Amino acid sequence: MKIIMLGAPGAGKGTQAKKIADKYQIPHISTGDIFRANIKNGTELGKKAKTYMDQGLLVPDELVVDLVVDRVQQSDCANGYVLDGFPRTIPQAEALDAALAKLGDKVDYAINVEVPDENIINRMGGRRACVGCGATYHVAYNPPKEEGFCDIDGEKLILREDDKPETVKKRLDVYHDQTQPLIEYYSSKQILKEVDGTVDMEDVFTAIVQILGV
Ligand code: AP5
Repeated sequence: MKIIMLGAPGAGKGTQAKKIADKYQIPHISTGDIFRANIKNGTELGKKAKTYMDQGLLVPDELVVDLVVDRVQQSDCANGYVLDGFPRTIPQAEALDAALAKLGDKVDYAINVEVPDENIINRMGGRRACVGCGATYHVAYNPPKEEGFCDIDGEKLILREDDKPETVKKRLDVYHDQTQPLIEYYSSKQILKEVDGTVDMEDVFTAIVQILGV
């Protein structure tokens, strides 16, 4: 099962992608997480990506496409994967489709988690991310057991640099301009599935499981 998660920044793609990966035992591939790990480790890729991410801009296609195309060909992806944060532009989607077609393969589902912009601003302000493992929480909707610390590894929780309100507004503009056209792209391929992302996160997941089947 090859799945793409679509949706605005903060729509809940990461939250749902983790649940899908757990339930269906497939890898969760988040380009945002890959870039953040590279930033933390001080790699060249991380240094380049950071300059774009801190401004709420997309990292250029050439820095992300090969990375994902290589990743989905690794052996743990043989039974499928859930892509979170990729593709984000039409050229990225076309590059993925072309690479999969060469392998006689294709994407099965593009799941769009729909949340209006007004809800997004509120969600991002309340999101906290673990400096260690990257797990995400929300101060109101999904709080950790101990305030300020990760349930998984006990590391500190922080507000992501790009979750500050002015950067979130920029990310939303970039989303509408460059990423939203993917909805039409996947709709025309008849693999688009829409879910309401404004309801409780467990209810969002139930809707996704209904689409994917047990
Ligand atoms: P990335 O990390 O992918 O950021 P994003 O797409 O903006 O998505 P987020 O991680 O912010 O949100 P999400 O939808 O996963 O929501 P979450 O589940 O955390 O990318 C960061 C940056 O990297 C980009 O801006 C770009 O610069 C670069 N980048 C990455 N991929 C790229 C690519 N392919 N090309 C170019 N550049 C790329 O949920 C948000 C919050 O809401 C959490 O606190 C959560 O607990 C809460 N929440 C979730 N669901 C619900 C619910 N149903 N009800 C209430 N609260 C909820």
